[in-house]
Amino acid sequence: MSTINNNIINVSQVKRTYKTEVGIIKKKKKEVDALKGLSFSVNKGEIFGLLGPNGAGKTTMIKILTTMLTPSSGEVSVLGLNPVTDAKKLRPHINFILGGERNLYWRLSAYDNLAYFSDLYKIPRSEQHGRIQDLLELVGLQDVAHQRVETFSKGMKQRLQIARGLVNNPEILFLDEPSIGLDPVSARKLREIIRQLNDNGTTILLTTHYMFEADELCDRIAFIDKGELIEVDSPQNIKQKTNNVSVVEFSVIGIEATKIQEFTHHPDIHHVQFEQQEFLTKVKLHTTDPQGAVPIIYENMKGAIIQDLSITKPSLEDVYVQLIGGKVS
Ligand SMILES: Nc1ncnc2c1ncn2[C@@H]1O[C@H](COP(=O)(O)OP(=O)(O)OP(=O)(O)O)[C@@H](O)[C@H]1O
Ligand SMILES: [Mg+2]
Repeated sequence: MSTINNNIINVSQVKRTYKTEVGIIKKKKKEVDALKGLSFSVNKGEIFGLLGPNGAGKTTMIKILTTMLTPSSGEVSVLGLNPVTDAKKLRPHINFILGGERNLYWRLSAYDNLAYFSDLYKIPRSEQHGRIQDLLELVGLQDVAHQRVETFSKGMKQRLQIARGLVNNPEILFLDEPSIGLDPVSARKLREIIRQLNDNGTTILLTTHYMFEADELCDRIAFIDKGELIEVDSPQNIKQKTNNVSVVEFSVIGIEATKIQEFTHHPDIHHVQFEQQEFLTKVKLHTTDPQGAVPIIYENMKGAIIQDLSITKPSLEDVYVQLIGGKVS
């Protein structure tokens, strides 16, 4: 790892406002503050996760870092370059894969797609063949290299996207929701590829809505909400910050939902979530006093059957719900 410039992405007080028009006949101007002064930095060699609810500003941030969008104000540097004024210089050193993007040529084979994108990045023809073979192998598509992309499954297409994002051997790879829509096995394969890339020195900035994925992959994560930073740290540290909180989970049969809602009024119990299933209700609550909470649960649920009661430490998802979910009014 380089010690000269460890900090390879720097975001300082970045704001971005979208100005749009709404209405068909009577057009009205509307402004959306997608980013409201966001600051964070990414170190060389990290897998860094940007997490937050829909509309938090994650994709907007990635578009700014990858030269596709200009910030309204604030400062950004990527590999020591300004993505606005040094875009041409920066582009050969980075690459990105945006979720749901259809930028593969479906009529072409996997191999020909990679050859096409290699040409775009001006990779010398003499180097292309070897590199494309390596990439196809990395993403496990060597056996279908000459098959048209339109015959691929979603997981295969997504893996080809990853290979496409690597044709220029980028120093930083930006991945916006890379595992969206993938089955658990394909998603796991994708995580392995991401880890392997990172082991080989690629810095990765990704967004995901899957908390366990972020917990498993990321060295550090930033929680953002409504364009603002809520928390940035390693998953371990973030989980530890809520050390005094426990999660109590149980299933209950024969109880009205309103009875469960009553828990919310208790001072030591926060974030009661419940899900009605066929015969039972699954309840999850956060509390700073689990020993005090359990008798309250039994007291409130007199006459009902309580099953599978457990007290655990919060997962990253629990912390997320506490930090972000709890703020939703
Ligand atoms: N082109 C655009 N024009 C107008 N508003 C936009 C545009 N793109 C995004 N926005 C708005 O900016 C805010 C942030 O959007 P953004 O796509 O960055 O969120 P996100 O965190 O990526 O969400 P998601 O998890 O749903 O992908 C949202 O309120 C969104 O509606
Ligand atoms: Mg997005």
